[in-house]
Amino acid sequence: MLKASPLAMVPFVSVDNMMRLVHHIGIETFLSDLAAEIEADFARWELFDKTPRIGSHSEVGVIELMPTSDGQHYAFKYVNGHPKNMKEGLQTVTAFGVLSDVYTGYPKLFCEMTLLTALRTGAMSAVATKHLARKDARTMAMIGNGAQSEFQCLAIKAVCGIDNIRLYDIDPAATRKCMANLQGLGFTITPCTTAQEAIEGADVITVATADKNAQTILTDNMVGAGVHINAIGGDCPGKTELHRDIVARSSVFVEYPAQTRIEGEIQQMPPDHPVTELWQVITGAAQGRSSAAEVTLFDGVGFAIEDFSALRYVQKTILQTPYYIDVDLIADPDDPRDLFGMLKRAG
Ligand SMILES: NC(=O)c1ccc[n+]([C@@H]2O[C@H](COP(=O)([O-])OP(=O)(O)OC[C@H]3O[C@@H](n4cnc5c(N)ncnc54)[C@H](O)[C@@H]3O)[C@@H](O)[C@H]2O)c1
Repeated sequence: MLKASPLAMVPFVSVDNMMRLVHHIGIETFLSDLAAEIEADFARWELFDKTPRIGSHSEVGVIELMPTSDGQHYAFKYVNGHPKNMKEGLQTVTAFGVLSDVYTGYPKLFCEMTLLTALRTGAMSAVATKHLARKDARTMAMIGNGAQSEFQCLAIKAVCGIDNIRLYDIDPAATRKCMANLQGLGFTITPCTTAQEAIEGADVITVATADKNAQTILTDNMVGAGVHINAIGGDCPGKTELHRDIVARSSVFVEYPAQTRIEGEIQQMPPDHPVTELWQVITGAAQGRSSAAEVTLFDGVGFAIEDFSALRYVQKTILQTPYYIDVDLIADPDDPRDLFGMLKRAG
């Protein structure tokens, strides 16, 4: 076997190494650091290339590509969303991604992103909650207790100090799983048998359910004054979680309007429904919550810049660790024009 040149090598973070990296750093530190990285990138939002993600839809799900660049680094994520997968013993969401150097176009990191997406989605909700929820918020209702749920709870605790959690899922086994996983991690947890029960006394409501169709997990009469909602599971055309009356009376905050109008809760509203871009709240260019009674809604669909932040964070973090391997990803002939010669000599 021929030895690959150093230029051929790209650091690869496998699922196994991602798990080791998270344990090495500590999950709450990882989530807070990631939240800070996302905030820093949202603060320089205007520098980034932005485009709604490119989805390939089928009857059962979607496969998407999510690209962006800040002019120095380019990143893309491959991600799917298949709500029926869970019942077949598969993940609803799987992902991997690449970070590249814009100057050479060479990949600089190749990374599992199924775990990293759950971590960054938790960190993103925490950033939104930090900027939009009432400062005295102490209790969160977590509706949908599937793969994303523990990450949402841990990120909100790490970033916002919210440790009182009320759980609800249509499947009680999911609630039992979530409760068992969060045991011993510093939460007070109340399992609930209806969504209505879960949101009683909640200052923050996070909804992360998976269904291919428009759902009304929350109806208007359920949402009281002053609540902050993270609506995470409505992230595809035809796939929503909230009754439109809630959207109508909330102040709506979004990542990238051009994508959220296609995929988010606001797809139920007219195309000019007023929204505030979260990056402007972070920089101070726009107001966040304006009163204690206001209902704020983070209509989160997941945007490419969050994945860029996550990949940059992993790239910086793995350097001093053994939690990656170099893979021979880039063909690197001695003479750049002699690609065929390299192949021929290997025969
Ligand atoms: N916005 C983002 O950035 C982002 C990122 C990742 C995932 N997601 C979305 O979040 C959702 C959850 O993802 P996941 O990986 O946790 O999926 P999952 O399949 O592991 O879990 C979904 C859970 O929702 C529950 N559920 C379904 N209908 C419900 C209802 N009516 N009431 C209460 N619970 C209900 C299911 O029983 C299941 O436990 C998906 O829709 C996914 O596409 C969004």
